[in-house]
Amino acid sequence: PPIVPFQTPLPLIPVAQPVSTAGGIDRYDINVISTTKQILPGFNTQLLTYGGQFPGATIKARENRPVIIRQRNGLSVPIARHLHGASVAPESDGGPMDTIAPNAERIYTYPNRQPHASLWYHDHAHHLESENVYRGLQGSYLISDDIEDDLPLPKGAYDVVIQLRDARFDAAGQLVYTMGDRARTTLLTNGVPYPYFQVAARKYRFRLANTSNMRFFTLRLSGGAGMVQIGSDGGLLPAPHVTQSLFITSGERADVVIDFSGYPIGSQVFLESVASNGSAEQVMRFDVTRTAADPSSIPSVLRTLPPLPTATAHRTIVMRMDEDGRPSPQAYMDDKVYDHHRVDAHVRFGASEIWTVTNANTLAPHNFHMHLVQFRVIERNGVAPGPAESGLKDTVAVMPGETVKLQATFDTYAGEFVYHCHMLDHSAMGMMATMKIA
Ligand code: C2O
Ligand code: CU
Repeated sequence: PPIVPFQTPLPLIPVAQPVSTAGGIDRYDINVISTTKQILPGFNTQLLTYGGQFPGATIKARENRPVIIRQRNGLSVPIARHLHGASVAPESDGGPMDTIAPNAERIYTYPNRQPHASLWYHDHAHHLESENVYRGLQGSYLISDDIEDDLPLPKGAYDVVIQLRDARFDAAGQLVYTMGDRARTTLLTNGVPYPYFQVAARKYRFRLANTSNMRFFTLRLSGGAGMVQIGSDGGLLPAPHVTQSLFITSGERADVVIDFSGYPIGSQVFLESVASNGSAEQVMRFDVTRTAADPSSIPSVLRTLPPLPTATAHRTIVMRMDEDGRPSPQAYMDDKVYDHHRVDAHVRFGASEIWTVTNANTLAPHNFHMHLVQFRVIERNGVAPGPAESGLKDTVAVMPGETVKLQATFDTYAGEFVYHCHMLDHSAMGMMATMKIA
């Protein structure tokens, strides 16, 4: 169905309510169910949801305060709940083979022994992850700490989660899923197409998350206005930087501050997505409707990251997929399709390793995501990364022919965890591997 843009206000994603906070532990009971929701006017779209909500409710967690989730599977297919970017024990990681059968339930424990960060959760059941996530199993998980709280950044109603993703609808308003589909042309922001958001003429913090399966976004504001990027996957950057464009691949997050105080009341500002041919598409509209006091500011130093330890091991990783147009392309990590019986990387517990990751394709973009750790990007194509990659990362773009060097320290949990391309159709095609930390 044709979509008239800017008819719907931006939905603010509700915050999940714990069933208990006793003993300093936040407990949640969440049922994954299939339900319908009106996304396009006049149509009820069938979705897979965490607790009936799309996107899933935002879980607000605190450093060192555990969250325990009782996750029930009310679907007829297996699910696995993965907390992307989190440091968790393997039994709570929700890895691809560690699934919950239909009608079963499982307890996930998140100790939150990690600094503030804008994480997200999504399904990870192998071969189903891309479709399950596409059909709605995605939500935000924000960890806060004192470092973040003590900064004068925009807070409360001025700190807003924005999840961006693409989708394809059929004539009956239902989501169409085909593996490898690169033409999901409808853009959803917090689950609705092309919303508007009425803002005050002051600073806002937006926690952008790219929850698409495959789509990489280059975002900008209409009129060439600057945004201030303050955070990436693993929390605040060491220092803010002003940018006119923000590149955010599937699974990545970016925290930005946008200052609307320079706009007259009544102005409209568009968030635009720029395609590789340079054409731009409007994603959502900010309507500056009122004035408001603004005690917030952006300090020139946001956090101090510990110096990188001396690396104790080096590894190379090659990402490649069939791109010759064959009907069922496969995707490989080091020329191998994912096999959960195999350990691909043996990592010594406590090691700090440099991984050199190359995209050997000439056309297909990829990105690289590791479970368990937040890493540092130390080089992109032989040079130091830009400011957007100066903080903690769990997912990093690796464009055709590119080589990215990253360093990760494995000193939290032992066990088996996966690493993969976060274009979820690619990981479902096999671009995933297992590291064993021992
Ligand atoms: Cu967000 Cu293994 O993934
Ligand atoms: Cu890929």
